[in-house]
Amino acid sequence: MDPSSVLLTDKVAVITGGGDGIGKGIALTYAKFGAHIVIADLNPAAGEAVAQQVRALGRKGLAIATDVRNREQVQAMVQRTVAELGGVDILVNNAGGVRPKEFMDMDEARWRRSVELNLIGLFNCTHAAAREMIVAGRGGAIINISSIEGSRAGPLYSVYSACKAGMENFTRTTALELSRHRIRVNSIAPDMIDTPHTAELHTPQAQQAIARVIPLGRMGTTEDVAGAAVYLASDLAAWVTGINLHVDGGTWASGGWIRQGDSWTLFPDSTGVVDSPKQSGG
Ligand SMILES: NC(=O)c1ccc[n+]([C@@H]2O[C@H](COP(=O)([O-])OP(=O)(O)OC[C@H]3O[C@@H](n4cnc5c(N)ncnc54)[C@H](O)[C@@H]3O)[C@@H](O)[C@H]2O)c1
Repeated sequence: MDPSSVLLTDKVAVITGGGDGIGKGIALTYAKFGAHIVIADLNPAAGEAVAQQVRALGRKGLAIATDVRNREQVQAMVQRTVAELGGVDILVNNAGGVRPKEFMDMDEARWRRSVELNLIGLFNCTHAAAREMIVAGRGGAIINISSIEGSRAGPLYSVYSACKAGMENFTRTTALELSRHRIRVNSIAPDMIDTPHTAELHTPQAQQAIARVIPLGRMGTTEDVAGAAVYLASDLAAWVTGINLHVDGGTWASGGWIRQGDSWTLFPDSTGVVDSPKQSGG
């Protein structure tokens, strides 16, 4: 294998919600690996700031103000990408999110808002970009940013979990349907990622708690997610489609076990440290 297989030289990548957080991290990392970048973000100023950083790295960077929930805007964004950058090779469906809410306090409007952002946006962007990839006939890579909440039950996350679980099975379905066009579709499931919105977790108490529940002992970084996104977009993953890659420091594998000193427990409030499944009732 040639080490250059990891490069994304002159690939055109569209990153939804690329103006901040995880999407911004993926955009800048992709640019470092040689890709040209379109930031499709609701916030034009944030998008343009990242596009400028991409251009400073010597790649083409284009910010197109886009609300992923709006089909016309998404189609116009893809058409402009094709007109100005010559096609779409990579789509990262990153725009999404959650406002935690107890299920019984949820109303229909709130449920619909979340579905619009997390699933209607996914439909709009995948449909428009995949159509261009099919017409161009040179294959492509679609990467959906899911969450650990897509494969575990998270209290307060009923609609978010439903959307991310839906995204993960949509990933597998579209991976099958688009395989004949050499379009690969995969998803990434991060646990807590350190972004500008998670500054409140920088206190020593929060960091100690995180070190107990995440086996690798820390929150993730946007670069941790970007590394997985580079792999899935590159030729290193040429025979990988329909997978969900957990980028979570081991949280999903831990299944609720919590680090207590050098041992592990399922009972965080117990006084004694339990270190075997038998003692802990597992
Ligand atoms: N941050 C985490 O800890 C974490 C963990 C797991 C999964 N995720 C997932 O990763 C993705 C990115 O999360 P984040 O925390 O980096 O996001 P974020 O809240 O920082 O938002 C990123 C960008 O999305 C843009 N955006 C919001 N709504 C949009 C819309 N309708 N159309 C286009 N752009 C829109 C915002 O303007 C912002 O620039 C989401 O899908 C989220 O569910 C995040």
